[in-house]
Amino acid sequence: MKYTPPLQTIPAEIVCLDDYQRYAKDFLSHDIYEYIAAGTADEQTLNRNRSAFANIELTPRVLRDFSSGSTQISLLGHNLAHPFLLAPLGYQQLCHASGELATAMAADAMDTAIVVSTLATASLEDIAAQTNAPKWFQLYFQARREDTLSLVTRAEAAGYTAIVLTIDAPLSGLRNRAQRAGFYLPPEIQAVNIPASAEFSQAGAPGVNPILQQLMALAPQWQDLRWLKQHTKLPIIIKGVINPNDAKRIADMGMDGIIVSNHGGRCLDGLPASIDALPAIRQALGDDFPLLLDSGIRRGSDILKAIALGANAVLIGRPQAFSLAVAGALGVAHMLRLLKEELEITMALCGCPQITDIDRNCLFTPG
Ligand code: FNR
Repeated sequence: MKYTPPLQTIPAEIVCLDDYQRYAKDFLSHDIYEYIAAGTADEQTLNRNRSAFANIELTPRVLRDFSSGSTQISLLGHNLAHPFLLAPLGYQQLCHASGELATAMAADAMDTAIVVSTLATASLEDIAAQTNAPKWFQLYFQARREDTLSLVTRAEAAGYTAIVLTIDAPLSGLRNRAQRAGFYLPPEIQAVNIPASAEFSQAGAPGVNPILQQLMALAPQWQDLRWLKQHTKLPIIIKGVINPNDAKRIADMGMDGIIVSNHGGRCLDGLPASIDALPAIRQALGDDFPLLLDSGIRRGSDILKAIALGANAVLIGRPQAFSLAVAGALGVAHMLRLLKEELEITMALCGCPQITDIDRNCLFTPG
């Protein structure tokens, strides 16, 4: 793969996360940009992920005491410096020669927790060695149980402290924009942590429906969650939940956390924005269940809105890829700093010295 050399310094005009997306077009080939940026089908869900945040209004609260102001949170036994993590993003060498290793270095510099994808292009052990920040491993179930178990065991040995099991992408959504742009995964970009045969093993057998019977036959089912729980001591967080009934069932099975997510609009088009699905899920689970959210977070104010509506923390997806493409580890660290500063400014102006002060009173209700 040929890379456009990433910048060594950050241009002064990059001042927010969307600036990275605009800049990234000059650092990624058109097909790779489309693969990352696009949603599925008509992109209704992708667009909703942003418009839903824009439709939530804030209420300022003034003259508060900020002498103990902090963005720290406690989540699943960790003290995190801020309530945002880097979401799992596969194939990061599409963006930068150092891929996930550069992202992990940035996470270390900014003391930000990372979630490493099963589809990483560096070994999960090498990525872990790049950062002292908390790290979670994102698991895609593999066709063979022994391959799934091997990933979990390696993650435990390498110091990952939670398993994030993604359940909303048993197959790829209708990536029409990527198709139009002629995207295909270059052969040298490989998910090095899984056996080559496990990736894209979608060849059809005669008489078998390739989608409903073949691909979905390999997809995890409810009993597989129980199996996973029996095979790891790490907390298990289920990623990709939009339906409150599913959320309740997951919590009742003893899972340790849930990520409300529509996969950044990359799986099923027509889903609601994650932020619109959040309140009903929080209500179904009660106040204390660890609940995270991703899809569409681009501003510090989005983070405050998500927390006000019931999230404990959020994850950042595409901005990682774009900042990585523009300026490598430096870009990702700068992107995280922008987000941290934006969150702090929003907390200050909404009168919330601590994350625990953020609640629905921060949101404007007309009338
Ligand atoms: C993803 N996402 C994802 N999720 C996951 O569980 N495992 C993965 O390997 C990937 N890979 C991946 C690649 C790319 C290029 C994108 C854009 C997304 C989904 C990701 O973790 C997250 O849910 C969304 O990206 C969140 O939405 P935003 O922040 O991109 O709007």
